[in-house]
Amino acid sequence: MEIIDSIQKMQETSNRLRREGKRIAFVPTMGFLHAGHLSLMQAAKKNGDVLAISIFVNPAQFGPNEDLDSYPKALESDLAKAKAVGVDIVFTPTKDQIYPDGFETYVQLERLPHHLCGLSRPVFFQGVTTVVTKLFNIVKPHVAIFGEKDFQQLAIIRRMVNDLNMDIEIIGGTLVRESDGLAMSSRNSYLSDTERKEALRLSQSLTKAQEMVADGERNSAALSAMVSAHIGDCPMAEIDYISVCDPDTLTEVETLTGPTLMALAVTIGTTRLIDNTVLIPS
Ligand code: PAF
Repeated sequence: MEIIDSIQKMQETSNRLRREGKRIAFVPTMGFLHAGHLSLMQAAKKNGDVLAISIFVNPAQFGPNEDLDSYPKALESDLAKAKAVGVDIVFTPTKDQIYPDGFETYVQLERLPHHLCGLSRPVFFQGVTTVVTKLFNIVKPHVAIFGEKDFQQLAIIRRMVNDLNMDIEIIGGTLVRESDGLAMSSRNSYLSDTERKEALRLSQSLTKAQEMVADGERNSAALSAMVSAHIGDCPMAEIDYISVCDPDTLTEVETLTGPTLMALAVTIGTTRLIDNTVLIPS
């Protein structure tokens, strides 16, 4: 496994691999790798000849009061985990390389960021689309994999790649859960034992919503009310949003007529968690 920390070296390596006819698969990450990331890497391996990942905590996607400074890091164990799943290249640029003095170009979508997480994290998606564009230009992948846990991020990346004619296949990787249902996230490490138990309310309420839909419920307000009651019952939980929306446009729907995204963002203690499921009325 090769570790590359310079943009120029990464671009030269990708150019060489492309000349050799190799298909480059790419998984961008912010590190502190968990089984969710590793499953994206395993999926990526099946879709390319060479697997490159990046580890870069992107300051542009954190708001002023968010957790940039405390974001968990574990480079040594990340490298060991990456090696164990068969990653070929780990790209680890510095902040100054990605955002040198004078940097002033950002990639911004007009509509998709103005839903769900974008409402309470106004700079987040502009930071994501900007860094992902830069990483695509540096790593030059043929295919890139993004987790479905960050459903809105995946929708935004797909839209951006389509709108800007980027010649990259985007694949969604299945959301991976702990055995008790908690969606895997690097931020789960912030949770105390009690908070960790209360955090299960997110996946529990999504499961309950699936059951209600299977039993014939089609009214979004009824589904949201159930989730709101289940999560709101916990004093340490603060609901940011409960959205029942079209999975492509992310606009709210009143009545389920086809596959519909239910997405949640909830702060437990001081940790903001997200989770989602696609509800499928039969
Ligand atoms: O999903 C993430 O970890 C980040 O948003 C990404 C895609 C690596 C961009 O910094």
